[in-house]
Amino acid sequence: MAESRSDTTAAAQTPSLRHPPSPVSSQSSVVSPMVQFNLVTREGETIQIKGDEDLSVMEAIRDAGVDELLALCGGARSCATCHVYVEPDVAASLAPMTEDESDLLDASDYRTEFSRLSCQLKLTGALDGRTFTIAPED
Ligand code: FES
Repeated sequence: MAESRSDTTAAAQTPSLRHPPSPVSSQSSVVSPMVQFNLVTREGETIQIKGDEDLSVMEAIRDAGVDELLALCGGARSCATCHVYVEPDVAASLAPMTEDESDLLDASDYRTEFSRLSCQLKLTGALDGRTFTIAPED
């Protein structure tokens, strides 16, 4: 006698677990807003620079290929070769200077009340359209 066997394997009873390809790319990423500012070089030339909002001002200047801002320590707050001047009305709205930053700027012959280390300034929307001036080299 032939054994009656229904084809009830697990595969036949289980609905497909495969999903159709998602129409949305799996490579979604968060794009930081861009901030554009002006940079006055030591020769008096004004350059427009754009940078992602999560960069420092120094990083945006360096990424734009401006090599007169040496930034020798790469933003580790130990060289002061990223010294810039900020606009007077901007100076008051920036994050306060740390003691380390102030100590480094004290070593410059060109420190003013508008001096900052550009590696310590985060690009934010508040800096959009503002102007930074590279300080003279010590
Ligand atoms: S890059 Fe060295 S202190 Fe800013």
